[in-house]
Order: sequence, then C-alpha cells, then structure tokens
Amino acid sequence: MTDYKRFLNDAIVMAKSAGDIHMKYFRSSEFNLQTKLNDSDVVTTADREAEKLIISIIQEKYPDHGIIAEESDPLHEDREWRWVIDPLDGTTNFSQGLPAFCVSIALEHNCNTVVGVVYAPYLGELFHAIKGEGAFLNGRKIVCGCKDKLSESVLATGMPYDKQDNPDNNIREISQVAPLVRGIRRMGSAAIDLSYVAAGFLDAYWELNLKRWDVAAGSLIAEEAGAVILPIRQNRNFSILASSPGISNLIFPLLLPS
Ligand code: IPD
Ligand code: CA
Ligand code: CA
Repeated sequence: MTDYKRFLNDAIVMAKSAGDIHMKYFRSSEFNLQTKLNDSDVVTTADREAEKLIISIIQEKYPDHGIIAEESDPLHEDREWRWVIDPLDGTTNFSQGLPAFCVSIALEHNCNTVVGVVYAPYLGELFHAIKGEGAFLNGRKIVCGCKDKLSESVLATGMPYDKQDNPDNNIREISQVAPLVRGIRRMGSAAIDLSYVAAGFLDAYWELNLKRWDVAAGSLIAEEAGAVILPIRQNRNFSILASSPGISNLIFPLLLPS
C-alpha cells in the first residue's frame, strides 16, 4: 500500500518552509509587488521564493514526480504522481497587509488528489487531508457545517480576474444570493475559503474561473470533511460550489449560468 503519510509529512514541511518565507516579507516594504495579466493579478517576491523552495524540495525527494505550480512552467505534468502548488494564495491580501493568505500543496496520483495541505502562517492554521482519512485543522479532525436554511448560512465567494472583460463575472450570482443568506464574505484566498467550509466556519463557498492550484488541496480537505463540491460552469476553468450538504441543493440552482 502507498505510504501517503510520508507524502503528507513532506508536504507539511514544504508548507511550513513556504510560510516562513511569507512571514519574512509580510507587512514589510521588501516584497516587490508586480502585476501579471492585469492590475488585479499580482505576484510578489514571496510567491516566487516560496515556489522555488517547494519545487527544489520536490525535485530532490521525488525526481520522477511532475509539478504544476502557479509561477512556473509545468514540469513533466503527465507523470503518474504530480504536485499542484499555489505558493501564496491570497497575494492581494498579502500585499495589503491583510492576514488571510496561505500556501496550498496537493499531491495527485493519476489525476486524483490524494494529499492536500493548506497552511496560513499568520493565522497559525494548518489544514490537511489524505484521501479517505478525513480532514484536520492543526491535528484535530474537522467536519463541515450542518445547516439546512439559507437564511442562517454564511457564504464566501470571490470575483474572477477577468471581471472587467467577461460578463460572467459573478455580480448576478452575488446579487441573487445576498438577500437570501445571513452574510456573504470575500476572504480573498480560495484555499482558505475551501478549508473554512471544511471546518464549518463557512457554510458554503463558490467562485468562477479558478485555477487547478487554487482548488486542488482545498477541495480534498472540504470533501474529506463531508462537504459537497459541484461544478457550476463547464467552460470557465475551475468554477465550483463547495457546500455543506444541507444547503447545497438550495444554493446550486442560483449559481448556474443564466
Ligand atoms: C486568488 C485567490 C482569490 C481568488 C482568485 C485567486 P492568488 O489566488 O484565491 O481569493 O478570488 O481567483 O486566483 O492569485 O492570490 O494566488
Ligand atoms: Ca491562488
Ligand atoms: Ca498564488
């Protein structure tokens, strides 16, 4: 049987080292903010340094594994074992001095996620999951929420980077959902959003046009905590609803394309 624990322990070591890099730059003037596709799409020295470190550890320990990481070209992405890395999820928060940012590391076997780690160093929160073995926050088992009324539910969402150019930009969905729920949050980190659904801190989360590295680890953590993950678009990268089971049927129809 495959020893997923060993992969998990290595992923945790990598995540903590990346978190140390985040903290070295957080609220400093040294992180050199740059834009990528547009002014809403940002990267810093902390993103790049954390990714470089994670990739170097994987290449040393697992030279035959593939790697998909946000800030680099894919490496052997067709391999049986593949790491999917967001070295800093929530870079906009990070660059503003806001605390909701994390590193997200997933390991896929034949395209199925088997290990996921999300570590938010400023918050001191480490989420992990191994396929079939439940989800954990700082070593304690977590389960998703059990509400069945939208009026009592607190949801999170986000706005896609192409919001200025693409009319499918979540404004319609937010205006449909907002009057029906207790509250909507915009945390600014997809991996934290998914992990918070897992822990029951959020009752559901949806977002359009995410990337594989935004959702790989967090989706496993949410599923392992009992949450339901449903696609809400077929043609917009990773567009998903992650929800506690009691409200997924109530929220899902409100998020489908018009
Ligand atoms: C972003 C965050 C944000 C979400 C964006 C993501 P990044 O990731 O997860 O919450 O709304 O869609 O791309 O750029 O900070 O790694
Ligand atoms: Ca991200
Ligand atoms: Ca990122």
